[in-house]
Amino acid sequence: MGFRHGTIVRNEGHGTIFYRMEVALPEPVQFVPGQFAMLSGWPGNDPLLPRPFAIYRAASAGGRHSVEFVYKVVGRGTALLSGLHGGDPVSVTLPLGRGFDLSGEGRTWWLVGGGVGFSTVFPAADSLGHRKGGFELFLGGRTRDQLPPKDWTPGGHTAGRLHLCTDDGTAGFHGTVVDAIRERMKGMGVSDLARVTILACGPRPMLKGLAELAAGAGVAMQASLENHMACGFGVCWGCVAAIRDGEATAYRRVCKEGPVFNAMEVVW
Ligand SMILES: Cc1cc2nc3c(=O)[nH]c(=O)nc-3n(C[C@H](O)[C@H](O)[C@H](O)COP(=O)(O)OP(=O)(O)OC[C@H]3O[C@@H](n4cnc5c(N)ncnc54)[C@H](O)[C@@H]3O)c2cc1C
Ligand code: FES
Repeated sequence: MGFRHGTIVRNEGHGTIFYRMEVALPEPVQFVPGQFAMLSGWPGNDPLLPRPFAIYRAASAGGRHSVEFVYKVVGRGTALLSGLHGGDPVSVTLPLGRGFDLSGEGRTWWLVGGGVGFSTVFPAADSLGHRKGGFELFLGGRTRDQLPPKDWTPGGHTAGRLHLCTDDGTAGFHGTVVDAIRERMKGMGVSDLARVTILACGPRPMLKGLAELAAGAGVAMQASLENHMACGFGVCWGCVAAIRDGEATAYRRVCKEGPVFNAMEVVW
């Protein structure tokens, strides 16, 4: 984990709601999919605190190093970020937290992104894509404009691998990703289901619904939580989530022990 001064290479809007920012950094970044960064770049100190974003991609070539983030404008911090331009300075602390556990040969991976949650699971798709068996992607949005651009979607052109879902039925499956996964599970035997691991990021009700479905079907699931954060590196205890610890409930820091947790241990 380290604090870096970076310079924006590009910061562009895509479609109606997503922005993608590339930041040049003095050193290479190595990260586990699911890890995140604390990012700020607005002038002055309002908002005071940096904001957490999943590390979307990191690259090094010809002595140049960069990291990318994908974000959606929801409030003041992200609105200010969306107004920054190439050449503007940003501050980045990364890599933070505990990412997805992608170990385990012979597993079937189902990657689930609700809304901008795809920014957390696409890096896992990039890692798993090199393995035999690969993955299936389930992406959900309220409407077709809220799905990620096709050219960002790993394996997006491979039939059977990509399940788009919209609440209003304007693209793909008419329903939520939870409904789509329920459909996908139909006809699968107990041993096939036991080989599946779901990796998911998205709104909490989606994660809760998915965790209940997975628990009932004997499917493993890792969930990336997006609690509000202040420090981002384990000092303030402002981001805790209730996690089952045997018979007891423990409070774990999402920025330090997470953001990825075993979904069966989260107290939803
Ligand atoms: C580990 C982690 C990774 C994340 N990765 C991404 C990412 O890759 N792309 C992305 O767009 N966003 C991501 N987020 C969410 C992002 O951090 C928030 O959207 C951002 O902090 C909002 O800042 P703001 O100042 O614009 O909004 P604020 O003014 O702080 O809040 C505006 C509204 O958004 C809600 N909000 C704020 N933070 C969150 C949050 N963490 N979760 C849900 N609702 C929130 C507030 O309740 C409020 O209603 C991530 C969050 C975490 C914890
Ligand atoms: S944000 Fe400070 S401990 Fe997690």
